[in-house]
Amino acid sequence: MEKGIWGFTILIVCSLASRTEGLGMDQNRQILGFQGNAGDALDDDPVGRLKVFVYELPSKYNVDLVKRDPRCLTHMFAAEIFMHRFLLSSPVRTLDSEEADWFYVPVYPTCDLTKDGLPLPFRSPRMMRSAIQLIASEWPHWNKTEGADHFFVVPHDFGACFHYQEETAVERGILPLLRRATLVQTFGQKNHVCLKEGSIVIPPYASPQRMHAHLLPPDIPRSIFIYFRGLLHDGMNDPEGCYYARGARASLWLNFKNNPIFDISTEHPSTYYEDMQRSIFCLCPLGWAPWSPRLVEAVVFGCIPVVIADDIVLPFADTIPWTDIAVFVAEKDIVRLDTILTSMPTEIILRKQRLLANPLIKLAVSFPQPSRPGDAFHQILNGLARKLPHGSSVYLQPGQKVLNWTAGSVEDTYPWEK
Ligand SMILES: *[C@@H]1O[C@H](CO)[C@@H](O)[C@H](O)[C@H]1NC(C)=O
Ligand SMILES: *[C@@H]1O[C@H](CO)[C@@H](O)[C@H](O)[C@H]1NC(C)=O
Repeated sequence: MEKGIWGFTILIVCSLASRTEGLGMDQNRQILGFQGNAGDALDDDPVGRLKVFVYELPSKYNVDLVKRDPRCLTHMFAAEIFMHRFLLSSPVRTLDSEEADWFYVPVYPTCDLTKDGLPLPFRSPRMMRSAIQLIASEWPHWNKTEGADHFFVVPHDFGACFHYQEETAVERGILPLLRRATLVQTFGQKNHVCLKEGSIVIPPYASPQRMHAHLLPPDIPRSIFIYFRGLLHDGMNDPEGCYYARGARASLWLNFKNNPIFDISTEHPSTYYEDMQRSIFCLCPLGWAPWSPRLVEAVVFGCIPVVIADDIVLPFADTIPWTDIAVFVAEKDIVRLDTILTSMPTEIILRKQRLLANPLIKLAVSFPQPSRPGDAFHQILNGLARKLPHGSSVYLQPGQKVLNWTAGSVEDTYPWEK
């Protein structure tokens, strides 16, 4: 399974006919939960609103993995590493576990790459289990809540379902030991077993240094109307073209490859980031997963994201005014994409571009090093702070057990060794 720069190695059920009906923009607005100026929370300051205890785990759960394979620092799942580094020196960190509101378990489940650099999550459940066993035996906090005041960063395709194929991910469900914890994850789709209530949906990681290195002057004319570069058909994993992107990308190619207002191709030019800055609309269709780093890149480069992924839950949707800055097109409406975009009134396009230029929005989807107030790290903390104070259901009676340590797949209970 090739996992190229564009791709997601996830299999999705071929059910093109049964997708939800198309949504108008107003319906999208309701579903995503925005009311007008929700963007005000973008510059909330989490400092003083929560205290986080960072467990000190043996380095085999985190830094050793990065030493062994530094490719983890640049792939789209790198938030698990940078969040750890950020928290170690964050003012919300407390060294006194007794006064903590939240407990953070620094494991890098996506940094266990194959020789070819593929972040396959097959061993992640064992690693998680091993780390949880360790903290539950050496500290008193896990047993008091069985993880309900703990959080984990699980950025892989389907989060803590830990599988790249959707069917299998759904069948597995969230790793049983993580079912009381708060999950900080990239995967976001409504009514999906791999996104539980209370999870925090974050942007995928796109290297801020790399994007910055390609910045053009802000007044560069946008001469490309619709831009897309990426996989249109995953011939290796989906030769018949029935599963990949639920057919959405194949349909894009089929319908618009010869349309002069569309600049779409599978070729990855060295001017990719410059081209986004010269474009008005950047297509962000689903791939193997509903999300891709394109969404972040489009926002950073001020290109209006055209989100084609039914039921997607976007990162920090309670804070970032996605409906104001992006365009949402239902998968079934791809055939009308040219009409939808050409008939959009100029003042709406200009308004979206103006809002996209807001540096607070760009910052909120970025993981800069060093961190800056308002960036994605701070938005994660804001999300955790908004969940406080913990309700009484978080705390168990002494001796009470809710989670079943042996539930789930048998392979997940095998020892994890490095
Ligand atoms: C937490 O509970 C487990 C049994 O579920 C036990 O083995 C462990 O020792 C307990 N941890 C502490 C710190 O008491
Ligand atoms: C825990 O899960 C295992 C495996 O699914 C099952 O056999 C066992 O009965 C469960 N234990 C409890 C207490 O539910």
